[in-house]
Amino acid sequence: MSFFSKSIVGLDIGTSSIKVVQLKQTGNQWGLISMGMAEIPKESLEAKNPDAQRSILVETIKRVFKESGVKTKKVVTSLSGDSVIIRYVKLPYMTIEELRGSISREAEQYIPLNIDQVVLDFQILGETQEDGQRKLDVLLVAAKVDVVDQHLVLLKAAGLTPMVIDVDAFALQNAYEVNRLEPGEETIALINIGASLTSINILEGNNTRFTRDIPVAGNDFTKEIQKEFNLKFSEAEELKKSHGAISMEEDDFSLSTVSHKDDRVLRMSDVMTPILNKLLGEIRRSFDYYETQARKKTVERVILLGGSARLKNVNRFLANKLGIPVEHFSAFRNVEASKNVDAEQMTEKEYHMGVCLGLALRQAES
Ligand SMILES: Nc1ncnc2c1ncn2[C@@H]1O[C@H](COP(=O)(O)OP(=O)(O)OP(=O)(O)O)[C@@H](O)[C@H]1O
Ligand SMILES: [Mg+2]
Repeated sequence: MSFFSKSIVGLDIGTSSIKVVQLKQTGNQWGLISMGMAEIPKESLEAKNPDAQRSILVETIKRVFKESGVKTKKVVTSLSGDSVIIRYVKLPYMTIEELRGSISREAEQYIPLNIDQVVLDFQILGETQEDGQRKLDVLLVAAKVDVVDQHLVLLKAAGLTPMVIDVDAFALQNAYEVNRLEPGEETIALINIGASLTSINILEGNNTRFTRDIPVAGNDFTKEIQKEFNLKFSEAEELKKSHGAISMEEDDFSLSTVSHKDDRVLRMSDVMTPILNKLLGEIRRSFDYYETQARKKTVERVILLGGSARLKNVNRFLANKLGIPVEHFSAFRNVEASKNVDAEQMTEKEYHMGVCLGLALRQAES
């Protein structure tokens, strides 16, 4: 059924850019009606007070809607980072009504925030027996009230109506499901390397079993380049995007893979590699936690996305160090483009669009 859901769009307000995706469903097939992405002018953002910052975001949201031709005002958006807390917990068995009544009391011990200052939601994932007792597997989601409020104020100022506020991690899971070639029970990690955050989702089949956001991502690469070459942030950003790469020991990097007359490529690699190693350390810690404590299964494959997955050799670096296959996620593999969508833009931006695609897919459920 999609009487009014048809016109819902996914809106991903990232820290570096804002993305929009509008989908149409025909039977089992998804079609891309429109998509867009607009950079948030970072330097202008830094200089301003919160009100002025909000109006820059509002301008950027309006711009991306205008440029992509999306007329709809109903949106599905998301929260991420430390404004949301996601926990997989086991609770004593009770009915859903009982749980609804007692959720804040039950959640209190798992949520490291004052329970009066969060918006709580939950989902019952299943039932298990533990020590002869019936237990519920419950997914808890808590978001800080003031963050949700600010988010709503921003959307309102942009003239939009929020239908659902999702969480990046769940949106990624939805996006992944639509793009799987065949269903299976394989354990994979979706790693979304954005501008300020890297999110890790470990999935068994279609179920997320672990999720974590790490505050190491593209901006950290850019800041190192900025220091190394004494540039403005935006200049360092451009240099990274046009010539950035991680050098691999097995390549004779200085001679072959990149043809640059200067040593900027190597210097960039030298300053970015420690950041990538830091990220690798956090990824390993997450995998270890999942593998030993949580489920006693191992991550078999990594699926990489986010704008920073475009950095040359990041996939090879991670594959070498983790010792498992790392492949890129094509957000639109199973999504057919309508003729208004620019095919080149679709390919260029697809690593950025995972979360946004997942948000747009919510229309199927609403
Ligand atoms: N060609 C490229 N090479 C390297 N990095 C790139 C390239 N293109 C984009 N990036 C980086 O990708 C990042 C933006 O990715 P993305 O759009 O996924 O982030 P975001 O959603 O805005 O951020 P976040 O999710 O952290 O809030 C930026 O740090 C940008 O520098
Ligand atoms: Mg993002």
